[in-house]
Amino acid sequence: MKTIKIGLLLGLYFLVIACSKSDNSEGMGTEDTNNEDPNSTALSYQNDIRPIIQGNCLSCHSNPPTNNAPMSLTSLSLVKSAIENRNLLSRINSTTNPMPPDGLMPLSARELIAEWANQGFPE
Ligand code: HEC
Repeated sequence: MKTIKIGLLLGLYFLVIACSKSDNSEGMGTEDTNNEDPNSTALSYQNDIRPIIQGNCLSCHSNPPTNNAPMSLTSLSLVKSAIENRNLLSRINSTTNPMPPDGLMPLSARELIAEWANQGFPE
């Protein structure tokens, strides 16, 4: 159990390092790093985000929403607005009030959504 926790922490640490590295290289703005740097893969709503939402959220956040969910998450703009106005990122990482309610998604899926928001919600 302990080693699993340490492994998770290490994984998080490297993700943070990887993210800050890619941010720096983008900050240079002199070359197109997206295709060469494996640490800064360009994400898209269609390929990366929609499948995650579809598989984990739309059983309730459909259109119209069911199971008392307050909004639907069926399009890019709805997901973007939930990230900006409804604390989506903290809810999918919350241990006390998680979304989906029956348990957190894998870290990789949660990181993808955060990174996608970070990249400015690309289509
Ligand atoms: C089993 C049904 C169900 C699933 C699956 C589900 N939700 Fe929810 N969600 C709800 C309900 C019910 C609420 C309202 C009660 C609450 O906030 O806990 C809610 C609330 C939320 C809120 C807060 C809305 C607000 O305005 O406060 C966010 C953000 C959210 N869900 C995101 C998600 C995301 C993202 C997923 C998938 C990763 C997901 N939910 C999966 C039922 C669900």
